[in-house]
Amino acid sequence: MKYYIETYGCQMNEYDTDILIYEYLKEGYEQTDNLKEADIVIFNTCAVRQSAENRVHGQLGHMKKEKENHEFILGVIGCMAQKEADKLKKKHPHIDFVLGTDFLHRIIPTIKYLEKNKKESIVKTENEKPFLEFEDIGRKKPQLQEFVSIMRGCDNFCTYCIVPYVRGRERSRSYKKIIEEIEYLVDNGTVEVTLLGQNVNSYEYEGVDFLNLIKKVSKIDGLKRIRFTTSHPKDMTPEILEELMNIPNVCDHYHLPLQAGSNKILKKMNRKYTKEHYKKLVKTIRDNSKLASITTDMIVGFTDETKKDFKETLELAKYTEFDSAFVFKYNPRPGTKGFEMEDNVEEKEKQRRLEKLNKLIKKLAKRRNKKLMNETVEILVTGKGYKSENQYKGRTESNKIVVFKSDQNLIGKFVKVKIYKITGWTLYAKLVK
Ligand code: SAH
Ligand code: SF4
Ligand code: F3S
Repeated sequence: MKYYIETYGCQMNEYDTDILIYEYLKEGYEQTDNLKEADIVIFNTCAVRQSAENRVHGQLGHMKKEKENHEFILGVIGCMAQKEADKLKKKHPHIDFVLGTDFLHRIIPTIKYLEKNKKESIVKTENEKPFLEFEDIGRKKPQLQEFVSIMRGCDNFCTYCIVPYVRGRERSRSYKKIIEEIEYLVDNGTVEVTLLGQNVNSYEYEGVDFLNLIKKVSKIDGLKRIRFTTSHPKDMTPEILEELMNIPNVCDHYHLPLQAGSNKILKKMNRKYTKEHYKKLVKTIRDNSKLASITTDMIVGFTDETKKDFKETLELAKYTEFDSAFVFKYNPRPGTKGFEMEDNVEEKEKQRRLEKLNKLIKKLAKRRNKKLMNETVEILVTGKGYKSENQYKGRTESNKIVVFKSDQNLIGKFVKVKIYKITGWTLYAKLVK
């Protein structure tokens, strides 16, 4: 039996796809990149914005034709599956199963049942105890860089966000299991892990908080780099940041989703921090490290965002000098608190703000990159470059891409390079002997 998986959305979904592959489909099933030869086709979906849902609806539409050409079991999992299982089934009757975000462990019994009972379909999103303790992943061949989930769900209920409704309540995973998983990865070649959660700062398991967890993880022999995402500014403090920055293998990269720069809008979004607090975090990072990068997510055109509010977002972006940012136009999601408020910023104005903010971010990012000119930095060599046979690429601690030439294959090694040229997002460097 061959299966084909398409994954949409954030790293949590990528991680869930990994669980599916390495924990549940490992026996008796083989992965294929070719949809045409698949016996099982799975879409792991995202519901964060309508555009994400539209892409999946498009693909599911194509599957109707595809099913006329060859027989396969069609399944939808992930956040859309959790959010609107019945609607999905109604719109695309050729779907065979829908499993919500906490039902990955049901995949094999579901497939087996459907093989026997070809005309039936299965929808599972509630009324059953979901798997609270997620399994350890026996990844077959750990990569140099891996994600490790430390928690599931979210309790923050930012008023624009669907995630708490589709991923359920926040649950932290046992630190013993997290450590075991990372030790397994490191023993098998991983040198960098990214700890994952919707709000990693509120990690808490049997008295171990996020900082304690990081300290434990940082002691794992052979683990060279630790990243984490996503931090919530409300739970981050200058003191925690300073401690994190003192741990040698914690990377100099902080992803701090700002969302908006005006206190009025932050309050309406239920973000529970002020722009003054955010500025304090930025100052702590900048005071302690010249080359650390700060990245963010921002939403433009949220309910009641005036030109003056938007200007405050621009000002805070300038103050921070973001190294990069994801900027989104506000998209009201049915079921959220935000959906009950009036979506009163016109589409044209949202677009204008999006373009303006993106333009600023590009300028700031260039300015930040320039700080690296003539600097010697350590990079992890992650693969080959595109340009020539002897070109390689790697990542700085601050997560920037660097390309350089080498006659030796250095993939997987940490090397020192000196930056000599910067174009767009790419930094060019020479190996330092
Ligand atoms: N837990 C993370 C990520 C959540 S989703 C966090 O707290 O930041 C990723 C990003 O999508 C969010 O940071 C936000 O900027 C954006 N987003 C979420 N809901 C949105 C909506 N309804 N419209 C536009 N952007 C949205
Ligand atoms: Fe959504 Fe807010 Fe939770 Fe992030 S912290 S997932 S933005 S509700
Ligand atoms: Fe999307 Fe679900 Fe992630 S809604 S952003 S895939 S948690």
